[in-house]
Amino acid sequence: MLQVRHLLAANPGAVTFSMAAVTTHILGIETSCDETAAAVIRRTPGGAGEILSDIVLSQLKDHAPYGGVVPEIAARAHIDHLDRLVSRAMEEAGIGFAGLDGVAATAGPGLLGGVIVGLTMAKGIALAHGKPLLAVNHLEGHALTARLLQKVDFPYLLLLISGGHTQFQIVEGVGRYRRLGTTIDDALGEAFDKVAKLLGLGYPGGPQVERRAKAGNPRRFDFPRPLKGRKDCNFSFSGLKTAVREVVNDLGALSDRDVADVCASFEAAVAETMADRLKMAVQLFREAHPHAGRPALIVAGGVAANARLKAVFETAAQAHRLTLIVPPAKLCTDNAAMIAWAGAERLALGLTDDLGVAARARWPLDQAQAPAYGSGKLGAKA
Ligand code: KG4
Ligand code: ZN
Repeated sequence: MLQVRHLLAANPGAVTFSMAAVTTHILGIETSCDETAAAVIRRTPGGAGEILSDIVLSQLKDHAPYGGVVPEIAARAHIDHLDRLVSRAMEEAGIGFAGLDGVAATAGPGLLGGVIVGLTMAKGIALAHGKPLLAVNHLEGHALTARLLQKVDFPYLLLLISGGHTQFQIVEGVGRYRRLGTTIDDALGEAFDKVAKLLGLGYPGGPQVERRAKAGNPRRFDFPRPLKGRKDCNFSFSGLKTAVREVVNDLGALSDRDVADVCASFEAAVAETMADRLKMAVQLFREAHPHAGRPALIVAGGVAANARLKAVFETAAQAHRLTLIVPPAKLCTDNAAMIAWAGAERLALGLTDDLGVAARARWPLDQAQAPAYGSGKLGAKA
């Protein structure tokens, strides 16, 4: 206890102060899943962002033989590579630790072993150099990324679709979120990965399914459109995945045509589902913010790379008077620049953390909402 008190006293992050009026430089660290990442960003007093360095080391090949992320392998790989990545990120940014205004790290949600690795390193740097610590919610990183690249006013609608998350949030401000819907079982990227696995395609499956779907017939198999027409905007993908499994089992030996047709029919079911869920989300958004005019629709996460789905979002944005923003893939998928940026936005509001802050496996963005029932490959976290 004495030791903890000593640490807290030594950490200026424990003191709340505002840095909205100065240019800040933040180191960000991301280790919540299967990417080890470090980045340095700059934020001007006007709120403009600039990435000074952005390094992501994917562990894809370490996990590929298992068809998914293995938590223990992930944590060990973070330990092996993180210090080198942080050194490189600092070097590329061209500012020493003394030039930093804060150290941000993902503190959850995610695979606990990995989160602890990154958060502990951030605490060490913050303590050693007397800098504020910013314990960032990984989902907040995704939610605020678009503001790093361009001016985006609050409130806006966020659709986060990745291997671990599938949710709609109203982003009302930094630290102010309202969850509109989430998955009650699998995450969307996870559904793509599982379908790919059923078809004997590689991991991660999303890009493979998209590639094979291009040559396929989207009407050959009539897969379910989960939750379509329901008056909320939750998602469910496990029934769709089961339907795909049954078709694949019935087909027996799969020809190239079969694989292409299953992929195309699956993608068509997902596209129709997303259009329906999006319609509901916009309705709920408009009810919450009737005077929002033409708000942004931000789509983030690895699945946002899917061209078929992007077309759905474009059509929906036009129909519902939204400005669609899909950040570049590098910032949509897991990275540390988004963590550094979220840290910078928090620091500008004086939202710093003390060194006693704990890593969290689960951490909903919208604290007022009950945790979701579902899973996603990382367990219930939304
Ligand atoms: O955001 P991300 O890189 O990592 C996290 O899960 O946090 O997302 C990875 C997911 C994987 O499930 C992958 O299959 C999916 O995004 N994905 C895609 C595509 N590219 C990646 N899904 C559908 N179509 C794609 N083109
Ligand atoms: Zn993520």
